[in-house]
Amino acid sequence: MITSNILRQKYLDFFRERNHTIIPSSSLIPDNDPTVLFTTAGMHPLVPYLLGAKHPGGVRLANVQKCVRTVDIDNVGDATHCTFFEMLGNWSLGDYFKKESITWSYEFLTKVLNIDPKCLAVSVFEGDADAPRDETSAKVWADLGIDKDRIFYLPKKNNWWGPAGITGPCGPDTEIFVIIQDKGCKEKCGPDCDCGRYVEIWNNVFMEYNKDSNGIYKPLDQKNVDTGMGLERTVAMLNGFKSVYEIDIFTDVFNLLKESCKLEYNDKTIRGMRVIADHIRTAVFMLGDEKGITPSNTDQGYILRRLIRRALRFARQLEISSTILSDIAKIYINVYKDVYTELHENEETVIDELEKEVKRFESTLQQGLKEFEKLLKYIQNSRISGKAAFRLYETFGFPIEMTQELANDNNVTIDMEGYEISAKEHQIKSQAGAEQKFKGGLADTGLKTAHLHTATHLLLASLKKLLSPDISQKGSNITAERLRFDFNFPRPLTIEELNTIENMVNQGIAASVDITCEEMSLEDAKKAGATGVFESKYQDIVKVYTIENYSKEICGGPHASNTRDLGKFRIIKEQSSSNGVRRIKAILE
Ligand code: ALA
Repeated sequence: MITSNILRQKYLDFFRERNHTIIPSSSLIPDNDPTVLFTTAGMHPLVPYLLGAKHPGGVRLANVQKCVRTVDIDNVGDATHCTFFEMLGNWSLGDYFKKESITWSYEFLTKVLNIDPKCLAVSVFEGDADAPRDETSAKVWADLGIDKDRIFYLPKKNNWWGPAGITGPCGPDTEIFVIIQDKGCKEKCGPDCDCGRYVEIWNNVFMEYNKDSNGIYKPLDQKNVDTGMGLERTVAMLNGFKSVYEIDIFTDVFNLLKESCKLEYNDKTIRGMRVIADHIRTAVFMLGDEKGITPSNTDQGYILRRLIRRALRFARQLEISSTILSDIAKIYINVYKDVYTELHENEETVIDELEKEVKRFESTLQQGLKEFEKLLKYIQNSRISGKAAFRLYETFGFPIEMTQELANDNNVTIDMEGYEISAKEHQIKSQAGAEQKFKGGLADTGLKTAHLHTATHLLLASLKKLLSPDISQKGSNITAERLRFDFNFPRPLTIEELNTIENMVNQGIAASVDITCEEMSLEDAKKAGATGVFESKYQDIVKVYTIENYSKEICGGPHASNTRDLGKFRIIKEQSSSNGVRRIKAILE
């Protein structure tokens, strides 16, 4: 059996023998990139060196980097997804390029790990307007003996990596897959098919470009190599395991989970256990990081809080006591004690913070549960009203998923539509509060906030036009310095999209359009096609602000009188606000 310790060792030895300096893993919290919450790849801390700065370790580096990726959180529990993982990486900073990189990867896989070359398939970049078709990599693979029918040319969507944030180094890549013989569609498909036949284990990126804030790929002076191999997946594959959760790192944790869960072992319980195992591992690494973070309601702390609370929710479903979470944390600290010594050094904080968060959530839950039971006595037709479900959320922080589970257990249903309406009404109230603050602050900052308010209308109109007509406002907050706008959208925006939005708003500004305001009945406003979110709270007569050809919104105002007064619009941040809701912060310069 190849354990994770053995794989780490073999990998680092292999590249040390090829003159690579072994560097330590960096913190999970990125140093220089405000656009990304966590370190998502080994290259992330190396960005300045990929752009040309001199690294003290020289031009050949290798390491094992701790990484967190939460975009796939809903897939956690399947066979291959984890929110935390270790990435084995080797880099050339303007030194070797495609031939050496590919040859060493091939050698390591087939000679050190003894993978049968016939089980390997690769993909290379097919080429587009930004970079040419990668015949060089394809030829290196063919010369090494990979059959042509196992070399796939794929587009940017599959075979381009980076930048890690919004701007930075990136380039075409060649990806290495292990073919799982008895899985998926057999002969016909390729690595871009998600049937499970091709499992990606290594990615070699040829970082020859820098993507700038205008979305342009500019060639770098220095041609770099950045590779990443997922430790968990590779160990699972080498041992013939069907899931990453079977590898040595998780053994003791699953023994404990199985022992603690008295429910039947089936697909649902397995998934729940995997979610707990995954989320607590990630939480331990966040809490125990050298730049340790603690649960909170913003940024990294918020993700950490969500992970711990989600693990608790699954523990509850599996009838596992919440006290097990710190036992699981202790197991991980022990498993990693020789590799990530910071976990052991910060053990007290890790366990303490974890327990505090468990307690906080439990007291919330206890109160919520009591309320839920009271509620059951009063409901009619076995149906919980939307208002009541929302009150549980608003007053006790009781997640709606939890209310749904409890409702199921008690054979009652929830009026989800009513819930959504109550949630919206709540937004109106916060909005009303914000409006008041807004108006109150007009004395000294009125003009600026009015301009930002107009910019917000242009922003919403641009988002609807570029991304989807279904986008609507989920929240808005304006200070004299910036606007903050929340809207429904299921994924982060790409740099291209952010740039386009910025340009669209700036075009609206440059067009010098007058902003007009009319009062009319809500019905007429709707007929006129005015956008509005907070309908149930509007008076009979509403104000409609129009920026001709751009936007028509029901709104209290005030606004600029002409868009040319706004200055230059710039997006400073795009981030998640809550599930399915994105947040943009922007300024006028
Ligand atoms: N940076 C590349 C990746 O994360 C190697 O796949």
